[in-house]
Amino acid sequence: MEASVESASVIVVILGGAGDLTWRKLVPALWHLAAGKWLPEKLAVVGADRKAMPEQDYAKRLRDGVSRFSPERPPEGPAWDEFIRRVSYLELDFADPAGYRALAQKLAGIEKNWDSRSNRIFYLAIPPTAIEPVVNGFERARLERPRDHVRIVVEKPFGWDLASARSLNRMLRGVYEESQIYRIDHYLGKSTVQNILAFRFANALFEPIWNRRYIDHVQITVAERVGVEHRGGYYDRAGALRDMIQNHLIQILSLIAMEPQVSFEANEIRFKKLDVLRAIRPIRPEDVRSVAARGQYGSGWLEGERVRAYRDEPGVDPQSNTETYAALKLYLDNWRWQDVPFYLRTGKRLPARISTACIQFRPVPHQSFPSSAIGEWQPNRLVITIQPDEGISLRFQVQRPELTVRLGPAELRFSYREAFKASPPEAYQTLLLDVIRGDATLFKRAEQVEAAWALVAPVLEGWAATPPSDFPNYAAGAWGSESAEILIAQDGRRWLTPSLPDSGEPVERSDTHPDKAEGSDMDSGPS
Ligand code: BG6
Repeated sequence: MEASVESASVIVVILGGAGDLTWRKLVPALWHLAAGKWLPEKLAVVGADRKAMPEQDYAKRLRDGVSRFSPERPPEGPAWDEFIRRVSYLELDFADPAGYRALAQKLAGIEKNWDSRSNRIFYLAIPPTAIEPVVNGFERARLERPRDHVRIVVEKPFGWDLASARSLNRMLRGVYEESQIYRIDHYLGKSTVQNILAFRFANALFEPIWNRRYIDHVQITVAERVGVEHRGGYYDRAGALRDMIQNHLIQILSLIAMEPQVSFEANEIRFKKLDVLRAIRPIRPEDVRSVAARGQYGSGWLEGERVRAYRDEPGVDPQSNTETYAALKLYLDNWRWQDVPFYLRTGKRLPARISTACIQFRPVPHQSFPSSAIGEWQPNRLVITIQPDEGISLRFQVQRPELTVRLGPAELRFSYREAFKASPPEAYQTLLLDVIRGDATLFKRAEQVEAAWALVAPVLEGWAATPPSDFPNYAAGAWGSESAEILIAQDGRRWLTPSLPDSGEPVERSDTHPDKAEGSDMDSGPS
């Protein structure tokens, strides 16, 4: 049974309240939710962090973050005034028990005037090393209770490897029940990632062909144009496999490969996804070379600008062997997917920011058209674009407008932007709202996290044991390393370069509660 309940009042406590994530993502998302009338009116947001900061400076900083990262809903008008009035700041030394007592008192003070018991969300936007002291501090101040009203959100990286993830899970489960723990993977909050389930299981057309009989292989690409920005110190210890594949790409794979859920109950879906992880064939140490490829960017050109090599980035070891690009080939040992390869790749400083899942179908079993007709013949392909131009396209063959029989590829395209005249909401809005409502469907259970670490462990170990001799091995602005080309070419296949996004008109986000769009005491802000 789920322990969480919905409540008429909520307090969101952000540990790391003065940090970057709060500034860029969490507060802009909470502001959107509040302005769109998705949150209870009895709302309080408490930022807690080590830094001393007067309340007005905190409010100013948050306002600045919202202006920069949420320009479509500027922090203005009575709605913003109302929102920021509910936000406060508390200086808290993570190692000092007195700080947690002060926090407990503050929360009790806020709740004093509310007649119902509020839900308390504790969001840990803090470095992994701070998690244990903070959780201990919560426990000592009895802030982990009452269990059905307290939820804790844990950001990634969730552990550094299998052993550290296990010990983190053990520590958390010693204090909280599993149903109180929300392990976040922001990719699961992206609408197009959720749309994979709708596409597969809300339509009768695709599921019958969603298997080894019709699908040749699957490619999942998460390409980023950015480098490591200001996160060199963290990234240099992490690398692409830990930072992206172990979590985001494997979650996308799970949704593509899972069996149909029986209901929309959180654990039902999460266990179905866990079954996928269990079915992935473990990578044997001797196979690492043939199923995994890595790369690191050197200097290069991106959009007409010279960009520096990874080893020259701030915070990065000039001799670093950390991969900024990783590719992996996986197989699932089950009836649906036996022998169908799943190719995963991700990298920084690639030519574009684009994430796609491509389902490549098999060729027709018998080619009855004359060879002269099959000039540009290509098998069917379904492409789910996760970002930035969210949508789905299906490629198929048509007769070209010519006098003789001649085939060519055509495309059916669905675009969120065109169909709904809106972009999907930001992932953090979806995820925060789910935590507030106590819906854990889009969050990872302990077993999922551990299974994903177990899966990548042989590659992490193999790479650590054999430092690369060719780094940097791709130029910034190129589609990754040659070793990744070889990885797929040895199977007679090639990476499908995602088509780059159209430049669309700026659009509204669909984040206003449909029942509360107008006419209540909070201004929903300019659209
Ligand atoms: C984070 C990684 O989890 O995801 C970053 O730590 C990466 O390195 C980011 O840049 C990508 O997220 P998005 O939503 O911009 O694709």
